[in-house]
Parts: sequence; structure tokens; C-alpha cells
Amino acid sequence: MTIDVVLGLQWGDEGKGKIVDYLAPQYHIVARFQGGPNAGHTLKFDGKHFVLHTIPSGIFREELINVIGNGVVIDPVTLVKEMAVLDEVRLDYQDRLLVAKKAHLILPTHRYLDKLSEVSKGEDKIGSTLRGIGPTYMDKTGRNALRVGDILQPDFKTRYEALRNKHLQIAKIYPETAFDLATEEKKWFDCINRLKEMRIIDGAYYINNALERGKKVLAEGAQGSMLDIDFGTYPYVTSSNTITAGVCTGLGVAPSKIGEVIGITKAYCTRVGSGPFPTELHDEMGEMLRNEGHEFGSTTGRPRRCGWLDLPQLKYTVMLNGVTQLAVTKMDVLDRFPEIKVATHYRHDGVITQEVPYDLCDPNIKPLYIGLEGWNESLDGVNKYQDLPERALHYLTTIEDYLQVPVTMVSTGPERKKLLLN
Ligand code: GDP
Ligand code: IMO
Ligand code: MG
Repeated sequence: MTIDVVLGLQWGDEGKGKIVDYLAPQYHIVARFQGGPNAGHTLKFDGKHFVLHTIPSGIFREELINVIGNGVVIDPVTLVKEMAVLDEVRLDYQDRLLVAKKAHLILPTHRYLDKLSEVSKGEDKIGSTLRGIGPTYMDKTGRNALRVGDILQPDFKTRYEALRNKHLQIAKIYPETAFDLATEEKKWFDCINRLKEMRIIDGAYYINNALERGKKVLAEGAQGSMLDIDFGTYPYVTSSNTITAGVCTGLGVAPSKIGEVIGITKAYCTRVGSGPFPTELHDEMGEMLRNEGHEFGSTTGRPRRCGWLDLPQLKYTVMLNGVTQLAVTKMDVLDRFPEIKVATHYRHDGVITQEVPYDLCDPNIKPLYIGLEGWNESLDGVNKYQDLPERALHYLTTIEDYLQVPVTMVSTGPERKKLLLN
């Protein structure tokens, strides 16, 4: 069997949680392959509302196995909090939630360093979620880190202390900031004890053996391709590979095992945190997108920056990911826009291009738009893709034609059921 992938094609928050939750019953296993508690994946069904940060979005589907892969960075405190929410609703998940031994651990001092680094950058800050993501991946590539498998070793405490002390030395280069290490550490070790009770697996063997036995596996991305450490709007990115290639390193599957790649885009565009965003709207249209789309961060609550759909940006991320199908989310948010704009090119130093330039921060880069008529009606009652208003269908075919990838799913509301299949 091959492994299918769901990931975000923009700057995150495309609706990955919703799409994964919807598709999950078609699979035996859902696996997160990168990122950590910087992610906030929202699921809505049966009048309930959950935001998952570390736990894969297949967890609410009975009998489905959920794997936190080796490419994920885990804060035991966040993970235990998430499990407490599942306990509250009496979800039976203990035997279905598996953690890879080779996943890396976020220490309290990683969060501290994240904060110190951001504060010291002042105006130039990344706008990180302050979850310790950057410092943890730095320790991973710097070969200093602690992994889930280490918690079972007798020298874990000693190794923890050595790394913590190193962090405290590094912290001295920054002006002091309040941080109650003793309290944070106590909480962390309590949660490490809870982590020890979980099913800890060798993720690569687990996934590959499952594929061999004919099991269907869905890989769930976090963040979005424009936040990819290599191909995103560097340095305003996250610290992992958010693209399809990350599935291979983050779960231990070979490139030849990748099957369908479902790329998600909102019907417009958002970004939270700092960094370039060519189609960002600073006017009442941007405000309207934020209000209609309730665009406030699922993890940090920060207002999301909003703008029009950017087709050159999407063409770039379709290319990077090998996208085979598109899911367009939040179509309903555009219901009341008389005109919808879409960027089709960039103008850069007098040159018109469909390629994303090296430095999107360059203020001379201007997106060029086409205007499409809005459908000006509610999509609420639409239950079939082909019953979408003609102008909504035209909007979708414009996207398909430009990207040369079929739109197979359209989401018209946050609820699980609000999904039209093409
Ligand atoms: P993720 O990080 O990609 O999983 O996305 P988030 O959960 O951070 O943000 C997506 C937000 O949009 C959540 O509040 C969802 O409930 C909501 N949402 C998802 N799909 C739709 C949709 O089609 N229409 C509307 N109005 N909201 C949606
Ligand atoms: P999901 O999975 C949107 C952004 C942060 C910041 C940058 C770096 O919910 O789509 P980090 O904490 O990773 O060091 O922050 O990346 N960011 C996200 N934006 N959705 C996310 O995840 C994000 N995860 C990180 O806002 O700009
Ligand atoms: Mg999110």
C-alpha cells in the first residue's frame, strides 16, 4: 500500500484538522509527521468543538490508530492536557494513540529560549507561537536533544539536567525574562511519567509493516508549505519540513510509498505571525475576511492577517508537494463578496512572472489580480458540488485551470458534514 498525505498549501490553518477528521474513516491509521504544539487543528462535529495540537485528527474516529511520528516535537505538558480533554469526553483512545520513540521532546527551557530569542529580535521577531519549536529542532539537528525513547533509560534525568543547564548557559546571552523553572520542571516530569504509560513504538517499522499488511495510512501535515524551513518565506517560517518530503523523514517511509497528496487551500489566504504576505489586505475587505472567516489563531488566539488567493504561491506549493488533489476550504466565507480577486502573477522590477521570487519581503514585488464576480448567496443549503452557484463553480474551475490539479473537495462550513465531493 501507499501512504496518502493531507497538508496545507499556504501559511497554515487551511482546515487540515477538518479534512483529516472527515477522511479518517477511509483509513486504518492517521499519522502526524512534523511540527508540534505550534499546530492547532480544529474539529467540529455533533455540536462539539476540539482543537488538537499534537494528537492526530483521526482520534475521534472509533478504532482508528493515531501515530505521533518521529518528525514531531512533543511537549509532554501539552500532550497530557490534550489527553485530559479526551478523558473528559470519555473517548476510548489509550490503545489507539501511539508515539514514536524517535520523536523529540520539547523541554521547558526550549520554550524559555524561544521566548528570549523572540523578545531579543524586537520588531524583526518571527511571531513564533512560543511553544519552543525552533530551539527543539535546533537541538535535534545539533545532536543534543532528548527523544521519547530516552525517557525509559536510567540516565534520563542526568541527560535532562545536562541539556537544561546548557540552555541556561545559552539564556545568559539574553536580557533576563521571568521564567519559573522549578514549577515548569515539576509539571514536565509529572507529564513525562504519564508519557511512559503510553504505547511507545518504533514508528518506522510500525508504519511500514502496516503498509505491507495492506493497511491504509493517512499522513497529516501541520503548518503550511509557505512555512517550510527550506521553501517557505525564510526566516519567517517554522523549523520543520512541512511539505510532502517531510512525510518520508517524519515517518520513515520511502518516497516511492507516497500515494495521493491532498493539498488544502482556503478560498482566500491568511497568515498569522510576521513575514511577507503579498496579497494581504489592509482595508475593509481584509477586515471582512477576518470577521466572516473568524480568523483568529486556534493556538494563540492572535488575529490572522487576511488577503486574496495567491495562485502563483499555490502553483509553487503544488509543485513542491506533488499535489494530486485539491481541497478548497472556507468557500462560505466569500458568500457576501460582490467581487473576489485572485492574484495570477507578480510584477518584480518590471518583470511579470508566475514564479515566487527569492525574497518575498522585497517591497517592489506587487501581485497582479484578476477580478471574478462573487456568487452573493449563502452556500449553506448546498449539498452537492454540482449544485454550487455557477459563479462559485467558475471560481473553482479558475483555480483548477491555473494549477492543473482537480478540486475534489470543497468545504462550506466548519462542521464535519459541510463538505462537498467532486
Ligand atoms: P488547521 O490548522 O489547518 O487544522 O486549521 P485551523 O483549525 O487552525 O483553522 C481553520 C478554522 O476554520 C477552524 O476554526 C475551522 O473550524 C474553520 N473551518 C474549517 N473549514 C471551514 C469552512 O469550510 N468554512 C468555515 N467558515 N470555517 C471553516
Ligand atoms: P497549523 O498546523 C499557522 C507560524 C507562527 C510563526 C511561524 C513560526 O495550525 O496550521 P513556530 O512556533 O513554529 O516557531 O512559529 O509559524 N505557525 C503557524 N501559523 N498555523 C500553524 O499551524 C502554525 N504553526 C506555526 O505563527 O509565524
Ligand atoms: Mg491551525
